[in-house]
Amino acid sequence: MAKPKRRYVCQACGSVHTRWQGQCADCAEWNTLAEDAPATVFAQKHDLSSGGRAVEFAGLDQPGEMPARRSTGLAEFDRALGGGFVPGSAILMGGDPGIGKSTLLLQAAAAVARSGASAVYVSGEEAAGQVRLRAARLGLGDAPVQLAAATSVRDILTSLHAMPPPALLVIDSIQTMFSDTIEGAPGTVSQVRGCAFELIRYAKETGAALVLVGHVTKDGTIAGPRVLEHMVDVVMSFEGERSHQYRILRSLKNRFGAVDEIGVFAMAGEGLQEVANPSLLFLSGREEALAGSAVFPAMEGTRPMLVEIQALIVRLQSGATPRRAVVGWDSGRMAMLLAVLEARCGLNFSSAEVYLNVAGGYRLADPAADLAVAAALVSALADRPLPDRSVWLGEVSLAGEVRPVAHGGLRLREAGKLGFSIAYGPPDAAPAVKGMDYRAVGRLAKLVDRVMASA
Ligand code: TYD
Ligand code: MG
Repeated sequence: MAKPKRRYVCQACGSVHTRWQGQCADCAEWNTLAEDAPATVFAQKHDLSSGGRAVEFAGLDQPGEMPARRSTGLAEFDRALGGGFVPGSAILMGGDPGIGKSTLLLQAAAAVARSGASAVYVSGEEAAGQVRLRAARLGLGDAPVQLAAATSVRDILTSLHAMPPPALLVIDSIQTMFSDTIEGAPGTVSQVRGCAFELIRYAKETGAALVLVGHVTKDGTIAGPRVLEHMVDVVMSFEGERSHQYRILRSLKNRFGAVDEIGVFAMAGEGLQEVANPSLLFLSGREEALAGSAVFPAMEGTRPMLVEIQALIVRLQSGATPRRAVVGWDSGRMAMLLAVLEARCGLNFSSAEVYLNVAGGYRLADPAADLAVAAALVSALADRPLPDRSVWLGEVSLAGEVRPVAHGGLRLREAGKLGFSIAYGPPDAAPAVKGMDYRAVGRLAKLVDRVMASA
């Protein structure tokens, strides 16, 4: 290799010289020339422009095959996945401990096995006997699931390569797996990433659908490297309050479908039951209207769902800092609404404790809930119930205006079906729904006037 020539670059004007000199010939600055690493050396070492195999390019209009989906045997699980498992895909399932991930996947594995396909369930957390006991309790003892308790990915893959690939492979959990080619304890970043990589490669090569159970840290993210979420095709989270019965399966990322569909389950003595019609679930079964409670017609994907929002306001006598607590909604969003109510409507929450709760352990993410939350807060502050059989929907801006929301008609039709007859919402998007008395609320201040006047 020819010795690369030295080169000197003027730090003031960027001109290149072959010889060092005190003054730059181009810009006439003094002492600005510095030796630069010859560009050719790096380029020669890292040249990737030849020597590879030819890649075939084709237009977007080439007929591609949409991978056939396979049912999980649980309609709600299928719905959240966008229609079932895609063979060869990898799914990461996150959720708090004890929420029911193992139960759900055991039920799915049993359903797949009973349908005649093969399902493998590898438990790294529980002994095989424990899993069998649970299966027996769930009435799944006779399902031909291939069960093993193992944590070594080498052992698992060796065994899998010695048999026909399963349709469904469940690894419970990825944090308990270890690879003997990587240093570090199971659950460390490099172990989790390495094990996931090998398992995903197996799935892609054989067409098995892979489900990795992932632990969740205190702040709700899947433990281990974020990169795990980039490696898989689908990220799902299984949510709910452990003290409540209902569980929601959500997909946070899906390379094969929409991410806004959810699956709803109820945890019962015999495992997870599917809830096909969840719109009434999250209403508390009250008869009369109570102060501080507002009903919100939420949307989850294509499904409307009625949710009760409860607020409690406690006036403090002392000068102690008042508490604000939110369960099931975004606390930053509540702080914003309180600020809007103070700044635009003249209400005063500064010396009061504010508690907000979404009934039934449901977690609301829909921005259209603003007006219902504001109504609950104002009703609690005034200690006056909102009109009987009423629902509230609308996004609230910082200026205190009520903004239109998506799917207004769908939300109100569902509310009408369940016996609600008054709807409060934004003025310029009044959906005509039979039997529903729609009352426009243009500004938050108007809502405050109405609630205060409805004594
Ligand atoms: P599990 O599936 O072990 O949760 P995870 O794998 O997410 O940690 O679920 C455990 C909880 O579910 C446990 O606290 C008891 C409850 N459970 C029921 O209520 N009914 C049942 O039939 C089963 C199997 C579990
Ligand atoms: Mg588990």
